Amino acid sequence: MKILGIESSCDETAAAVVQDGTKPLSNVIASQVEIHSRYGGIVPEVASRQHMLSAIPILERTMQEAGVCPADLAAIAVTHGPGLAGSLLVGVNLAKALAFSWDLPLVGINHIEAHIYANWLGERVPEFPVVVLIVSGGHTDLVLMEGHKQITRLGSTRDDAAGEAFDKVARVLGLGYPGGPAIERASREGTPRFKLPRAWLRGTYDFSFSGLKTAVVRLAQDLGLPDASGSDSAAADIAASFQESVADILATKAIQAAREYEARQLLLAGGVAANSTLRETITRRSPVPVLIPDLAFCTDNAAMIASCGYFHLLAGTRHGFELDAVPGLRLA
Ligand code: KG4
Ligand code: ZN
Repeated sequence: MKILGIESSCDETAAAVVQDGTKPLSNVIASQVEIHSRYGGIVPEVASRQHMLSAIPILERTMQEAGVCPADLAAIAVTHGPGLAGSLLVGVNLAKALAFSWDLPLVGINHIEAHIYANWLGERVPEFPVVVLIVSGGHTDLVLMEGHKQITRLGSTRDDAAGEAFDKVARVLGLGYPGGPAIERASREGTPRFKLPRAWLRGTYDFSFSGLKTAVVRLAQDLGLPDASGSDSAAADIAASFQESVADILATKAIQAAREYEARQLLLAGGVAANSTLRETITRRSPVPVLIPDLAFCTDNAAMIASCGYFHLLAGTRHGFELDAVPGLRLA
């Protein structure tokens, strides 16, 4: 069964065709990162305009690369939240128009839940129950998944999302946007010599990154960063210390949850799951197998939307044309 997935919740216009929820036949993404990097962050109006320009060419390419025509498709899955309202509307309206003209079922997908499904696109199949750490630019959630559509949230961030913290710290250190890859690159040249705070919020599976971010801002100020002379060894050391601190907190809590809920596997998801220090720390410490999606499926893509759509379709989910963009859509 082949599903067309469409994703436009933030600054990536993406479309993919996935067979049986597990086999990507195509996965095409138009990133706007260069356009937004001029502004140091995403400008919503610019993002929705870019989605309108990219949507049809991306759709045509993904159908072509997958070698399919509309008659080969079983359904259309589209992100309808959470995300930027103007961006979501482009994808949702495109999906509705296609579902109507091609006479196909329409399935609205929660973007955060879809991130989890990147784990179904790899070689190893997840085995329930699993604990999933979802770490993206907008969300940080730890969930227990006992089956498809059986998700219980164990904890979330109380302030910044992990990716947001990476982006803000990178800006403070003058490392550029997007912050995650910039911090990871800088860290390779540095040593984690600074002891930065870790908010454990004991007795909960919640996270907090604002204290850590403030500590980095103070440290950067004390050291006169960003350094106009171009000497960035202190910035690299702070980046490495920050990255180590975030990886330690995320890994410790995820592993604790995996133990408590007797998970068979621990799954990583979301853009921050691309971080090699986080991947390495969790894999080294976890008592159960850790599944991590391929890099291309960690950050925003439409294959994960199509995969999630497949399992929802099997469970009987169908949406009507009243499906709307829900910017504040929550998980579970
Ligand atoms: O999942 P995603 O592509 O979009 C959202 O749904 O938010 O995640 C984007 C976030 C950004 O904050 C970006 O800085 C972060 O993921 N990110 C990383 C890395 N690559 C992307 N964070 C840490 N290390 C990375 N290598
Ligand atoms: Zn995302």
